[in-house]
Amino acid sequence: MLNLETLISEEAIQKRIKELGAQISQDYRNQEIIMLCVLKGSVMFMADLSKRITLPVKMEFMAVSSYGDEYKSSGVVKIVKDLDQPIEGKDILIVEDIIDSGRTLNYLKNILSERNPKSLKICTLLDKPDKRVVDVDVEYIGFTIPDNFVIGYGLDYQQEYRNLPYIAINKE
Ligand code: IMP
Ligand code: MG
Repeated sequence: MLNLETLISEEAIQKRIKELGAQISQDYRNQEIIMLCVLKGSVMFMADLSKRITLPVKMEFMAVSSYGDEYKSSGVVKIVKDLDQPIEGKDILIVEDIIDSGRTLNYLKNILSERNPKSLKICTLLDKPDKRVVDVDVEYIGFTIPDNFVIGYGLDYQQEYRNLPYIAINKE
């Protein structure tokens, strides 16, 4: 069993998501956003963020897995589920749960760019800049957090704890 301590409360998450939604709605006025959820970790964030965007949005889902243990990614990324639709000429907003080493997003951004979207931006709920190995430009960041392994609100530990409504760290 993990000994959980709240890092970001449910209220703080929702407040920040409202702000991000307002900012994205402002930045994308006159555009149609395709929100691209990176499964599975981003599912809660995608759902809540989309409700705070006051523009027409479409939703797409992709699944990638990085080979590695449960604590860190190896840098080798595999597409487990690809998009069903072409994204050429579209405004794509990648919705991510967390950026750690940056390898997953760097890879994803590279392969999606080759499909010629009109724009390709990233919105991540959490950013762990201390762990960055590969540089990635991120347009929207919910919270910058220290280098702790976090769970909850979509983020898992061995596939569990995704359903916590807040973000927690394991106090050993
Ligand atoms: P990156 O490729 O190292 O940036 O790793 C990104 C992916 O690793 C995220 O999308 C998460 O699925 C997972 N990950 C990284 N840090 C954590 C964490 O603290 N808790 C849970 N999953 C994490
Ligand atoms: Mg993820």
